[in-house]
Amino acid sequence: MAEKTILINDLRAPALAVPAAPEAPTGLLLDARGRPLHDLRISVTDRCNFRCVYCMPKEVFDKDYAYLPHSALLSFEEIARVARLFVAHGVEKLRLTGGEPLLRKDLERLVAMLRALPTPSGRPLDLTLTTNGSLLARKARALKDAGLDRVTVSLDALDDTVFRRMNDVDFAVSDVLGGIEAAHAAGLGPIKVNMVVKAGTNDGQILPMARHFKGTPFILRFIEYMDVGASNGWNMDEVVPSSEVVRRISAELPLAPVGANYAGETAERWRYLDGGGEIGVISSVTHAFCHDCTRLRLSTEGKLYTCLFATRGHDLRALLRTGRSDLEISGAIAQLWRARTDSYSETRTISTAGLERGARKVEMSYIGG
Ligand code: GTP
Ligand code: 5AD
Ligand code: SF4
Ligand code: SF4
Repeated sequence: MAEKTILINDLRAPALAVPAAPEAPTGLLLDARGRPLHDLRISVTDRCNFRCVYCMPKEVFDKDYAYLPHSALLSFEEIARVARLFVAHGVEKLRLTGGEPLLRKDLERLVAMLRALPTPSGRPLDLTLTTNGSLLARKARALKDAGLDRVTVSLDALDDTVFRRMNDVDFAVSDVLGGIEAAHAAGLGPIKVNMVVKAGTNDGQILPMARHFKGTPFILRFIEYMDVGASNGWNMDEVVPSSEVVRRISAELPLAPVGANYAGETAERWRYLDGGGEIGVISSVTHAFCHDCTRLRLSTEGKLYTCLFATRGHDLRALLRTGRSDLEISGAIAQLWRARTDSYSETRTISTAGLERGARKVEMSYIGG
């Protein structure tokens, strides 16, 4: 029988340790490998209205699945409080994720609270959100008005039959495309479109997707299917290497490489030689980018994960709900990041070597992409 719970991660989560001498943020935190903390990804719900086969397969995420109770979720006030401390530590980008973040009620209220956070440099934060697009047409304007900068929309196929098979809830491509247009009209750009490529399932959609988005303001990115979580039954044979994606597209629509926008960018960029814009490839399996990974993840219930492939989080919520001061929490965050050595994608093997016996990786739907 399939396991029904991810709370095993939870049971194993140690409380985030508070150092003896609390310390104020300095605007720069380096981990044990010299990587700065720049990017905080905040999951606001573990629920989703899609059942993408590679993320929330129906056999596991069925009607009996135990989602988090509302009382377990960080409140917007709690999220804003910790986000303020992270920004003071040098975080420059906040990404809201899920599950599907737009399922969280009144999300624009959180967006407005995050928009108001002061940064040490005085430069505005990059405030963004990853969504499946299903509720975007309804929410784009309010999100923009609340101060969201941009959105990234997941779309795994242009062919309706293939897309419905991927999302497994019979959701139509046209509705996601409508969401992307609404976000564009609201000014939530540059908009990126993320396609996870799974061999034998949607790799036939690589060229149709490339043709469709070429010459539009939308940046299409192809993502190698990863061995995240424990429910998707990942197999190396289902990974289409980015080099193959680029080869297939370039054979019809010639491409040339472009330099990165910023250090630690997940995507390698390519531009169409005829001026039709750019695409990206995210090669977390064949060309890992751990060496300059600047990302920390905050789960819906307030656990910090120093790696997407972590088997345990560090309980920040416990500090929030036991009256710890900002200085204490700030010191605990600093201590966690300084000790960080994660580089899972660089050290993975075909199986999940490097994991402790019996350990179970956290689900992507729980900490967000
Ligand atoms: P921008 O801020 O627009 O540059 O986006 P991003 O590069 O942070 O990428 P995004 O959040 O859209 O992530 C795209 C995909 O890259 C995710 O869905 C994951 O599949 C993968 N990804 C993102 N961050 C990591 C990471 O830290 N490790 C690994 N292995 N994969 C990641
Ligand atoms: N491999 C790669 N990316 C994944 N995502 C979810 N599961 C996986 C996986 N197994 C990413 C996708 C999706 C986002 C929400 O999370 O980019 O668009
Ligand atoms: Fe939902 Fe995104 Fe996971 Fe699909 S990939 S099930 S849209 S959280
Ligand atoms: Fe960062 Fe872990 Fe992803 Fe490597 S595998 S890039 S350390 S989150």
